[in-house]
Amino acid sequence: MSRLRSAMLKGKRAGLKMVETAKPKRKNSKTAVKEEENASSASTYHTFHDPAGVELLRSQLLSWYDKEQRELPWRTLAVTESDLNIRTYAVWVSEIMLQQTQVATVIDYYNKWMKRWPTVQDLAAATIEEVNQMWSGLGYYSRGKRLHEGAQKVVSELKGQMPRTVDSLLKQLPGVGRYTAAAVGSIALGQVTGAVDGNLIRVLCRLRAIGADSTSPAVTEALWSLANTLVDPERPGDFNQAMMELGARVCTPKGALCSQCPVQSHCHSFRKVQVKQEKNSRKLLGKLDSWSTLPDIEDCLTSGTCPLCPSEPWDDDLGVQNFPRKPAKKPPRVERTLTCVVVRQGETGEDQFLLTQRPNKGLLAGLWEFPSLLQEEQSSEIRQKRALCAQISGLLGTSLSQSLLQYVGEVVHIFSHIHQTYVVHSVCLKDSDSQTQTENVQWLTRSALQEAAVSTGVKKILKLCDSADSQKEQTSKDGKRPKNEKKAQSSKRAKLSSASSRQLSLSSFFSSVKQES
Ligand code: ADE
Repeated sequence: MSRLRSAMLKGKRAGLKMVETAKPKRKNSKTAVKEEENASSASTYHTFHDPAGVELLRSQLLSWYDKEQRELPWRTLAVTESDLNIRTYAVWVSEIMLQQTQVATVIDYYNKWMKRWPTVQDLAAATIEEVNQMWSGLGYYSRGKRLHEGAQKVVSELKGQMPRTVDSLLKQLPGVGRYTAAAVGSIALGQVTGAVDGNLIRVLCRLRAIGADSTSPAVTEALWSLANTLVDPERPGDFNQAMMELGARVCTPKGALCSQCPVQSHCHSFRKVQVKQEKNSRKLLGKLDSWSTLPDIEDCLTSGTCPLCPSEPWDDDLGVQNFPRKPAKKPPRVERTLTCVVVRQGETGEDQFLLTQRPNKGLLAGLWEFPSLLQEEQSSEIRQKRALCAQISGLLGTSLSQSLLQYVGEVVHIFSHIHQTYVVHSVCLKDSDSQTQTENVQWLTRSALQEAAVSTGVKKILKLCDSADSQKEQTSKDGKRPKNEKKAQSSKRAKLSSASSRQLSLSSFFSSVKQES
């Protein structure tokens, strides 16, 4: 059975309507031939059925890649590192970092990571706190946690040997799914497998005019089948990275550069755009003939029932961007969080910030943040401010008056599924007070905070406070009263009772943190 056919059957099993289910009637021979033609066209339109065409596409793509590829640290390592264990580890790290993060952002993080933990054994020996610290700012923090868990598993259960096949990568490593296993297997281990990521979805959908929902089971299986057909058996890793490179730089989501595409001659979408343009110009010139109302000869002839064809009509304005089609995204959840930057002066006169650790599970697991409270819709802002004050008082072991909280402003931070607004307040404590050296509550200097395992949201909040401070300074220099200064707060540093307190060094701060299992 052809791969496409098996993909279509899977789609059917998944509940997609694909073929008429009415009892077949006896056909006359003419209709039978016509239907056979249609069936073979349907099964070939979205595939690569010509071996010579496949060979040509491979060589065109790889020649382009050999000339045009960006020099990226993980690519260099995959070529120069002869130790299979290190190579597999290095590519695994890169692929995890590249999930949901742009190449340009990953490069610096990757270089620092590989310098600090050049082998899987080094990573296994690190603490989760160190991993979170290194990951700070990269987002989707569970990825770092999974890498760490995986490294510990390789060391403790696999005698320090990274898995050597796509299947075992998939089975043995947490956080490694079908794509990542295929990418690591092909790039580091030379396994002959396609690897379908977001870039490949776009490139393949355009090449074969696949316009049905690209997240549907039928399309997913068809894309994997196409990728497996196309992958170059001699250079599978390069081929997959060349497809990714093409998607990132030429066959882009918007403004595709078709004129620079090395595989343009294989692209059904490009051909469709050309045919549509030709038809439109004929219409404009008044040369409407029977030719221009016929379906394109290259079209899938069973598009009415084909699970890979678009259900929506072609949009001339979109051109090749008619493909791929995704279902509409669910709008993100909207949340508001009350947060307070609590500052005190440490013994050396340096500002110190109060941070608490998030739970070990869920969003931003184990990261540090300013004391915060998710706003409830039903509760008034005053009541919630009071609750936040009570929370901070509990952390400090002393009573903090609500009137000392000064409004600073708002910070918006977008997570993949949450539109978060932090409503930022601050309070400055005069002395080193309160005993707050518990495992989950710490005072950090500014430089320690910048290096610590905090999310980008925390850094944005600190930035807002800094700019509010400098605005305040500027206005008081100019002799004007700062806009958001509340009367209740008569001095910059509010007075609170002093209790013995000790600033932890960064190293003792990290070693004092409980390690995740
Ligand atoms: N995205 C995912 N893997 C990649 C790779 N190896 N090179 C460039 N972009 C990628």
